[in-house]
Amino acid sequence: IELISREINGALEQYFDFPRKGVLYEDFLPVFRSSRLCKGMARAFAKHIEQRGLKVDYVVGLEAKGFLIGLAIALEIGAGFVPVRKQGKLPGKLASAPYKKEYGSDIFEIQIDCMPKGSNVVVVDDVLATGGSAGAAGKVVEACGVNIVEFQFVMEIVELGGAKVLGSPTFSLLKR
Ligand code: PRP
Repeated sequence: IELISREINGALEQYFDFPRKGVLYEDFLPVFRSSRLCKGMARAFAKHIEQRGLKVDYVVGLEAKGFLIGLAIALEIGAGFVPVRKQGKLPGKLASAPYKKEYGSDIFEIQIDCMPKGSNVVVVDDVLATGGSAGAAGKVVEACGVNIVEFQFVMEIVELGGAKVLGSPTFSLLKR
């Protein structure tokens, strides 16, 4: 896990003042361009899930990069994948929750009947910053009547305190 985390760290590209002035943007796309890194990342999460003895029925991924990371993990561990999407993209009966993130605000939605009640899920995204996004995702996921066994991130920006606002344990491959 440590080796691949270091490699992922080395592959990320930093952009200053994107998408707003004063924000240091970590670009994850180079990781997805490498099949080896992508597989290694999914295996690292799978290894962690195995080591912790977590039972996971569904991986919930947050739009947009959480879709890519979450589906890779779901395939690796043999779980289903469920998306949490930004408002207006999902059909059917929905649960929704507004959120503020490091920059800007939005509304997250999930298809409320998409998982059997009592299922165990992990909620996955690329970055945990203030926890605004993951917190709102947690609310819509819980509205489905399932258990969040863990929030999982590739990177956590520790000084923004996101882990403290989330109601379930968090795991991140990298900490900044
Ligand atoms: C980014 C990132 C996380 C969120 C973290 O979202 O992907 O979802 O910010 O910040 P927070 O902890 O302060 O909420 P963005 O909308 O840029 O992601 P996307 O490009 O994956 O849609």
